[in-house]
Amino acid sequence: MSYSPLPPPSQEALVHSQRLVNQLILAIKQSGGALPFTEFMTQALYTPGLGYYSAGLRKFGAKGDFITAPEISPLFSQGIAKQCQPFLTAFEQSVILEFGAGSGIMAAEILKELERLNCLPHQYLILEVSAELRQRQQTTLQTQIPKLFNRIHWLDRLPSQPISGAILANEVLDAMPIHRFRLDAETVSEFQVSYQEDRFVWQESPTTNQSLRIAVESLRHQLPVGYISEINLALPAWLQSVADSLLAGLVLLIDYGFPSREYYHPQRSHGTLMCHYQHYAHDDPLILVGLQDITAHVNFTAVAEAAMAAGLSVAGYTNQANFLLACGLIELLSTLDQNNMPYYLQQTQAVKTLILPSEMGELFKVMALTRNWDKPLLGFASDERIKL
Ligand SMILES: C[S@@+](CC[C@H](N)C(=O)[O-])C[C@H]1O[C@@H](n2cnc3c(N)ncnc32)[C@H](O)[C@@H]1O
Repeated sequence: MSYSPLPPPSQEALVHSQRLVNQLILAIKQSGGALPFTEFMTQALYTPGLGYYSAGLRKFGAKGDFITAPEISPLFSQGIAKQCQPFLTAFEQSVILEFGAGSGIMAAEILKELERLNCLPHQYLILEVSAELRQRQQTTLQTQIPKLFNRIHWLDRLPSQPISGAILANEVLDAMPIHRFRLDAETVSEFQVSYQEDRFVWQESPTTNQSLRIAVESLRHQLPVGYISEINLALPAWLQSVADSLLAGLVLLIDYGFPSREYYHPQRSHGTLMCHYQHYAHDDPLILVGLQDITAHVNFTAVAEAAMAAGLSVAGYTNQANFLLACGLIELLSTLDQNNMPYYLQQTQAVKTLILPSEMGELFKVMALTRNWDKPLLGFASDERIKL
């Protein structure tokens, strides 16, 4: 099979991928010939030992498939630390809980900055679904902050006792499996995946999933017939579990996405499903199975609605540039040692990547959800809030 113009995978990677393909073929057979795409995405990303996030691929950084903000510059995580600060000093035994900590670099930089600010959390908890990434996070954190390592604990599930402090998730929502649908004249079709002639192929049929049908029908008035997009039906349950884990404090969600009216804009008629493979972005999740990231943008209106239904308040919503600038990104840059010119210039470039509208500044959004908290938030102090 040719993946042109994508770089060809190594022989070893192909063997690895084939093991996951075999497992998916079996799953397709067992479900009568087609698997809902959400199930395909779950297995492609999270099958233990084989899925993209669960196996030992490089993923993050220049030698991986994509680069995330904490990998670009420590200043990003320092800004987040400053946003967390009041939530750590307000409570005794305050806790930070991070979802999907990637390489562990954000946790390391946040803890370094909080130590400098003299407001370390009592514990830093990490909930990571990938055993391989958990291992990598442990190595990063043990190497970078050995003295703080005993504060960090990895969880298999959300804590049984709600915490006070801050819950963080950077680029986690976009990695959650979604349902892919098409709005037809009389019905809602769901995209499924079947296997024919040695390849995975799309198969669409009227959905039997009532939640999907009801959610998409509610958009019919604003969308043309034939419109294809995605929806994250797991969001309300996820936010309810997050809300139940927070006694008081902040939930900070950072990701690429839009409010609903832009997400389901009539012109965005093929959705936001994207794959990342060795820094190439493309839209075919049915190839390079287990070797590429599969993502969908986040519908922040849906996040806000689910959060409010779960008992959280929407305390802020802005883009990444506004948020980081309000958290003092430029001041943080100016404190760097300008005698180390190569590093200073590199960080200046990194700041541009984080805030320029043509880079991450506008597409990436930051949403703050709070519980039992009525003070204003540092990162949302500017008037540059965007409408949900
Ligand atoms: C795109 S990576 C982002 C990693 C990291 N936060 C960063 O910014 O570099 C997505 C991460 O979310 C994790 N993940 C996905 N769904 C999750 C869930 N429901 N709970 C916890 N982690 C999850 C993945 O295993 C992975 O670590």
